[in-house]
Amino acid sequence: MKRSTHERRPGRKQPKGRIAILSVIAAALAGIVIWIGVNDWNVTKTMEQAGLAESSAELTEAPEQQQKPLKQPEQPAQTEKQEPPVTETAPAEPADADDAEEPEEPFDGGYVEGQTLPKEPTYVNGILVANKKHPLPEDFAPGEDKAARAAFEEMAAEAKLSSFNLTAFSTFRSYDYQVTLYNRYADRDGQEAADRYSARPGYSEHQTGLAFDIGEVNHEKHWASESFGETEAGKWLLANAHRYGFILRYPKNKEDITGYMHEAWHFRYVGKEMAEEIFKKNITLEEYLGLE
Ligand code: DAL
Ligand code: ZN
Repeated sequence: MKRSTHERRPGRKQPKGRIAILSVIAAALAGIVIWIGVNDWNVTKTMEQAGLAESSAELTEAPEQQQKPLKQPEQPAQTEKQEPPVTETAPAEPADADDAEEPEEPFDGGYVEGQTLPKEPTYVNGILVANKKHPLPEDFAPGEDKAARAAFEEMAAEAKLSSFNLTAFSTFRSYDYQVTLYNRYADRDGQEAADRYSARPGYSEHQTGLAFDIGEVNHEKHWASESFGETEAGKWLLANAHRYGFILRYPKNKEDITGYMHEAWHFRYVGKEMAEEIFKKNITLEEYLGLE
């Protein structure tokens, strides 16, 4: 029997099926064309979005830097740009930190940190100096100065005429004795307080033999006391000591210059001429010698 021309051959699709497939393809192509027009499509952008290429910026970097993004996927380009500002702002923080730490610096008591005792004492314009900046050798031990003792006796004799019986209850002190004294005061009051009224060993003017701590016989309660300055004997001494070559070594309100609190009893022998000038100018030995 003869087959119809429309008879379906094996392996061939029916016309209705082909039309349906072609319709779907045409619709898809139309959709793509419309999408391209709407989205202003470019190849690089699409590849980036698909994860197939580096960012546009990275592609413009030097070759050696192109390697970094691959090893450091956490935005290396931004990291490099952020580093300079961090470095620039860093100095401001240590400066503030230093300011805050200043009060924590070790207490120096007016001494020069790390200073050791010298081999020779300091003379300025022929004047022997002992203060917190100019110490003495440990073995410097001249004993009580003879000229100073003679001047004191002369002064005490005149004071007696006014019924003041003066005595020098501490003059020359050795280095070793100052060790004992200073340690006793530091143990009792603490080093910071002791440094205001007692010299560290090697720094005491008493080790020069020229310093005389003066008080009144039978008035021990005023010895080495601020109250001595309030007594009639203390006032007489303050007004007359310079005529015998002595100066009040640690006057009131001069602690920032001398290194010590006011001591109404501590006098230093410098000779009449110098004592007169220091008294009249109302200055300290440091100021007179230009040691401020
Ligand atoms: N009192 C004085 C400062 C001394 O110890 O030498
Ligand atoms: Zn003294």
